[in-house]
Amino acid sequence: MSTTKASHGQWSSRFGFILAATGSAVGLGNIWKFPYMTGVSGGSAFVLTYLLCIALIGVPILVMEWLIGRRAQKNPIQAMEHVALQEGRSRHWKWLGLVGILGAFLILSFYSVIGGWALDYLFRTGSGTFQGMNGEQTGAVFNGFLGDAGSLLLWHTVFMGLTMAIVAMGVTGGLERASRIMMPGLVLVLLILVGYGVTTGAAGRAAEFLFTPNWSAINGQVVLAALGHAFFTLSLGMGIMTAYGAYLGQNVNLLGTARTVVLLDTTIALMAGMAIFPLVFSHHLEPSAGPGLIFVTLPIAFGNMTGGTVLGALFFILLSFAALTSSMSLLEPVVALLEEKTPLGRKSATLVAGSVIWLLGVASLLSFNHWSDIQIMGNNIFDFLDKLTSKFMLPLTGLGIIIFAGWFMNQDSIRRELGLEGPGYTVWRIVSRFVAPLAVIAVFISLLLG
Ligand code: TRP
Repeated sequence: MSTTKASHGQWSSRFGFILAATGSAVGLGNIWKFPYMTGVSGGSAFVLTYLLCIALIGVPILVMEWLIGRRAQKNPIQAMEHVALQEGRSRHWKWLGLVGILGAFLILSFYSVIGGWALDYLFRTGSGTFQGMNGEQTGAVFNGFLGDAGSLLLWHTVFMGLTMAIVAMGVTGGLERASRIMMPGLVLVLLILVGYGVTTGAAGRAAEFLFTPNWSAINGQVVLAALGHAFFTLSLGMGIMTAYGAYLGQNVNLLGTARTVVLLDTTIALMAGMAIFPLVFSHHLEPSAGPGLIFVTLPIAFGNMTGGTVLGALFFILLSFAALTSSMSLLEPVVALLEEKTPLGRKSATLVAGSVIWLLGVASLLSFNHWSDIQIMGNNIFDFLDKLTSKFMLPLTGLGIIIFAGWFMNQDSIRRELGLEGPGYTVWRIVSRFVAPLAVIAVFISLLLG
């Protein structure tokens, strides 16, 4: 481990690694973004393509990011360069790593704004604001919040400050250990919410909306949204999983570990969907309400169930926690790069990177109020950054990684490293070489052709 600039050595166990990787993967993407994207992209059309993208594209890329990181034992940029040179290929593959870090930088700017919403709702729910409210009232509270740039700024600053403190002090390991308790806690509260939604809300309509195939609703935009979200939710394409792979022991089974992480991540997203959509339909809310969806629906549950105030506060604590284990994974590679390329130490690098990201986040939060008229290619600043990263940068860097892995690396050594034989290897080959890259390319071509 002498080549990595790390504050800790290898993960003590496969379990520790699963905690870290799941900590990065499970976050606002699962609970905030998945339901809202599902709502705006036509329900099951989105959900089913998303599941396909996870299985056929997400898993191979996740495995390859880990494998590259583990072989190189270096940060994402150097890792790509190192493995490319090892394979006798051009060192320019390292640019993929650099685009990835730029993407992490952009994602964190708006991620922190939403993390701030979760923190604000912790206090709002905990103080009983939503007692007895219906959907119209919770919607009014949310809109009032969005219009209040000062509050958004305060909570964005707190969230970003927490993320910076964690990364600067290098206590990411402690946070991951804490997620041992927090993650099961989140699942438990989600289970209660699913129970509440299913028993009091329109569960049948929700299940139909989420899972009954509706092929006619599938179009290029839906597929691109699902593809982008598959990358977002698994933290792919930004080299973050590559960085984590550097801490992975040789004996860890990559495919098995990927299965565990992906299953956890997907289950949590689907649970969030089943908690929210029954309430959306029974309260006649718009499924396509957009980024505010969970902040309008879940407070109805917390305001009307027994013990809802406490459970609500608990939910938002757990959500904020899950968001922090993801946001620190977004800041970490940016800081590591600055530390390496500039004379800055860890603390100053965190301060510099964090402040610039914070500033960009301010532009995002203003797009919900004072700057709502500012449009970049037909989107406000927040939507623009979200779409630029999820729909373009993540899929394109992911495509680069899978093409590199499938076509430019020695396949026999990959086979051995993954412990694949016979039909399992054939499936892996077909998926990693053809299905995954061609699917991503097909999505872009279909969009270009309109
Ligand atoms: N996966 C996280 C979530 O679902 C967000 C995230 C963390 C992320 N690291 C990432 C997204 C890297 C893309 C790339 O909330």
